[in-house]
Amino acid sequence: MSKQEVILSEDLAGSLKQAIDRCPHDRLFILTDEHTSRLCMPRLREIGCLSDMNEIVIGAGDIHKTLDTLASVWKRLSDSGATRHSLLLNLGGGMITDLGGFAAATFKRGFPYINIPTTLLAMVDASVGGKTGINFNGLKNEIGVFAPASAVLIDTCFLRSLDRRNLVSGYAEMLKHGLISTESHWAELLRFDTEQVDYDGLRELVGRSVQVKEDIVGQDPFEHGIRKALNLGHTVGHAFESLALEKNRPVLHGYAVAWGMVCELYLSHIMTGFPAGKMRQTVQFIKENYSAFYLDCKQYETLYGLMLHDKKNTAGIINFTLLEDIGRICINRTAGKETIFEMFDFYRECMGL
Ligand code: GLY
Repeated sequence: MSKQEVILSEDLAGSLKQAIDRCPHDRLFILTDEHTSRLCMPRLREIGCLSDMNEIVIGAGDIHKTLDTLASVWKRLSDSGATRHSLLLNLGGGMITDLGGFAAATFKRGFPYINIPTTLLAMVDASVGGKTGINFNGLKNEIGVFAPASAVLIDTCFLRSLDRRNLVSGYAEMLKHGLISTESHWAELLRFDTEQVDYDGLRELVGRSVQVKEDIVGQDPFEHGIRKALNLGHTVGHAFESLALEKNRPVLHGYAVAWGMVCELYLSHIMTGFPAGKMRQTVQFIKENYSAFYLDCKQYETLYGLMLHDKKNTAGIINFTLLEDIGRICINRTAGKETIFEMFDFYRECMGL
């Protein structure tokens, strides 16, 4: 997979002009959703060279990350004469960068695209690393391809209009990057005040977070090995997310990952010796910033069943990414049902449930 260029930009207009110049094209398209079209698009309209681009607006939120929406994007591209030499800009959160990337990667067997993420989650995770796709048959990101963007332009100014819940949600992926990288990065993330946000400090942390992800994706773009480090917190997190959805009380992805990290740090502690003190410090930060996903022992079996069906598994074995310490990653670990139930007991106890 070719390496994508990720730019932490202080001058979005200039960076975008340069990125577009490097992708000669016949027609220019931009994919937005109903929110980013209203809130973020005005900043791009000011950029002269974009005046004749064709805007495709879709519904906002994960419920629109569907085959129907994708087909509507393909149809607009087709009706507007898009070719293999066209260029698509994806302006939005992870849903837009995932679906838009997939649309571009598949239309006429693929044409280039540029991501301009507008949420913290998309900046530090979804828009970087070439994973694209849609939800299908009730399963998240079930259909998709690896197809890196030609460029990812990150302008953290967009974060100033993000609500706290979405900010904190994206921050969970940053915390994960801290846990899988270095002790100093992790410690700095725990010191950050998510209520009185210092946006300059956040920008710096975003840059470091993206670097962690890029380094890992560069080593293993197709997730055969070390890229699984990025799954820390996600085996349990996806089960929490699915359970919440089944109960018609959807939760933001990053919240589920944060609660998943509480569980998986416990597993790391008992199975691979992750230090108790660092586990407690991380859990305390999560407790203070993410409240708790309510859980009682009647839900353990359901969660266990959901984890068995996670697409990261093979042959009915639940696959975890664990840590021996900060930055010391153990992939392809498995745990038995009894240990997993004990992990849920720990979660309930330390989250005060
Ligand atoms: N979101 C995890 C990855 O890109 O591999």
